[in-house]
Amino acid sequence: MADEENRTESILELNNIGFYAQGRELIRDFSHRYAAGKTTALVGPSGGGKSTVLKLSAGLLVPSKGAVLFKGRDIHLMNRKENLVFRQESAVVFQDSALWANQSLYQILELPLRIHFPSMSKNEREARIKAVAEEAGYRRELGIRPSNLSMGEQKLIAFARAMLCRPELLFLDEWTESLDESASQRLVRLVRERQDAKHTIIFVSHNVGIIKSLADTILMIRNGNIFLKLSREQIHSDAEIAEYLEKGMAS
Ligand SMILES: Nc1ncnc2c1ncn2[C@@H]1O[C@H](COP(=O)(O)OP(=O)(O)O)[C@@H](O)[C@H]1O
Ligand SMILES: [Mg+2]
Repeated sequence: MADEENRTESILELNNIGFYAQGRELIRDFSHRYAAGKTTALVGPSGGGKSTVLKLSAGLLVPSKGAVLFKGRDIHLMNRKENLVFRQESAVVFQDSALWANQSLYQILELPLRIHFPSMSKNEREARIKAVAEEAGYRRELGIRPSNLSMGEQKLIAFARAMLCRPELLFLDEWTESLDESASQRLVRLVRERQDAKHTIIFVSHNVGIIKSLADTILMIRNGNIFLKLSREQIHSDAEIAEYLEKGMAS
């Protein structure tokens, strides 16, 4: 594993991260290099720290200790322009979808395009928004607000929003929860296309089938730390580990 990490260029690095909230140390001494163009699954028991690690990796939480480097630059020391580039090159699907309650789905999907492609015409924006929503499998109108959607539909819109700018770095937190099998398979296919395009994907899932089919690396996270790192070969070759995953580390 260490050899593999050294061979492959890393795009994002967590260096000795500590994260405290409300007097609790939620993440401790957390170090990992995400390899460029590879897919990493964060797995482990609920409350272990997966979502917190994902948000720290995406630069959405500021670590109490340590640094997060994107292409060698500390993301919390970037200037405004560098930060905008990092934001454009990364996108997050939150565990709770995190759609703005007081905006229509169309407005929610329009905002990233307005920010990152200010010269894009209204017609182009509309075409792109409709295309990503349809691609994600959302079939209803876009003029309605998130409260009118099921949890699953909210996930589809959150996914569509993350795909809008074709980010180089994609963070997905329990992104197929609340979806039926065919909707979830559709999103898995879209993630595969991103893998083929050599984008870097970091995802949280409890679905062993999805983890096994997509992950190049698995990080098992427990008590705010990495409990075990596994490569794709290990996941498939070691029956004991596979059983471990099936039995509960992933749930
Ligand atoms: N902002 C916060 N303040 C206090 N505790 C938090 C905060 N965010 C998460 N936690 C706690 O940190 C732990 C890890 O949470 P989380 O990263 O959401 O775990 P997971 O995604 O693995 O279920 C949990 O015990 C959770 O209650
Ligand atoms: Mg979580």
